[in-house]
Amino acid sequence: MMRSRLWVMGLAASMSGGLGCGDEDRAPAGSESSGAQTGVESLQPEEPAQLISYECRQDPARKSTPPGAVASEAQSFRETGRTVGAAVAAWRLAEDEQYGPTIAAQFNQLTAENEMKWESIEPEPGVFDFTAADALVTFAQQNGMKVRGHTLVWHSQLPTWVDELTGADAVRAALTNHIQTVVAHYRDNFPGVVVAWDVVNEALNVQQGPMGGTAIFRDSVFYRELGEGFIAEAFQIASATDPDALLFYNDFGVEGVNGAKSTGTFDMVSGLVAAGVPIHGMGFQMHTGPLDQGPGAADFAANIARYAGLGLQVEITEMDVSLCAIGGNVLGQELQRYRYNRILTACLESPACRSVTLWGVGDANSWLNDNGCTQGMITLETQPAPLAFGDTYARKPAWWGIYDALTGCEYQ
Ligand code: G3I
Repeated sequence: MMRSRLWVMGLAASMSGGLGCGDEDRAPAGSESSGAQTGVESLQPEEPAQLISYECRQDPARKSTPPGAVASEAQSFRETGRTVGAAVAAWRLAEDEQYGPTIAAQFNQLTAENEMKWESIEPEPGVFDFTAADALVTFAQQNGMKVRGHTLVWHSQLPTWVDELTGADAVRAALTNHIQTVVAHYRDNFPGVVVAWDVVNEALNVQQGPMGGTAIFRDSVFYRELGEGFIAEAFQIASATDPDALLFYNDFGVEGVNGAKSTGTFDMVSGLVAAGVPIHGMGFQMHTGPLDQGPGAADFAANIARYAGLGLQVEITEMDVSLCAIGGNVLGQELQRYRYNRILTACLESPACRSVTLWGVGDANSWLNDNGCTQGMITLETQPAPLAFGDTYARKPAWWGIYDALTGCEYQ
């Protein structure tokens, strides 16, 4: 309780420019925030009048955009000229009339939230169904957007027939045919639209032991039958099929420099680069919370720099900022805005940063709603509300934090 009250005071200091950048990294880690939540619960921010203005770190004379944003300023992410994406669901495009127009107005890149995963695209051996994925790519093409292909090889959302394959030959044949068919389909039918692929997703895991965590290869049919070489093979097949596509390894929990999984991932990716495997980038998923310091912005920037040092591009591929730990009151909304701003800036300031993607559009569409906010076995009334737009697609304070990052204002 005492810590959360101090943190409320810390935020107030931050709002008036008194909390330095380094202080972000000393923020408490979530668990004691409920007292702060009850204190200001009834205050819900509305844009833009109640938004607090921040000083921009690069130019302290300049304030963050609201309040009083002038009409001539860009009112969408895509107008900023940055590559900004969102995870999109094909069925929602068809059923939610505000969804498509919001995406087309705000974003210039999209990722298929589920439609390009193996179970969707090749549910039976050699039987490909591109219907839903093509609807998304067509939407992107019609609206001048690019697409990140997600994902070619992942242990999850695999059809049963792949999971049940045995023997290296059978798995290699399935892997090869899947990658070749999917990548060639988009190369040939939508030239220049699917510009990047998450070739391999989430291949590593952490095994806890008495001496701490160790990075290990995650159990999957690919690892079991082909060993760790399945990763290099997947990149080689994708590259041979579309030499123009940017090929990424994508994972979560690897955003900061330290930790077993981060270290193991950096070593694995370094090894691929050293071996001449055609990998072009590292995707950091960035599912996070406003009080989460794994990583802080400086830590994330340092991690980006070491991947850039390998000659790779980097992307934030799935960012969301869950409010479960703090709630959706003014404090939570402002911390969410701040977190988006600081983390996105860490990427955007690096020349290696190609794009940033949010994992959804409006709060009502987030995958985090599947489980809601829980404490042990109890489901809380608090909603994750992790995205830039509210349930009816009104811009949240988070929108302004993102917009400010895209236009070069990193909050102090
Ligand atoms: O398609 C079935 C439908 O037929 C069925 O009636 C319904 C019943 O629940 O489920 C539907 O499948 C759901 C699927 O999304 C498509 O909507 C699954 O239950 C649900 O678990 C699945 O969740 C997806 C999750 O990946 C699966 O791991 C989320 O939408 C998607 O946002 C999420 O995305 C992943 C990234 O791909 C990789 N990184 C982590 C990220 C978040 O988990």
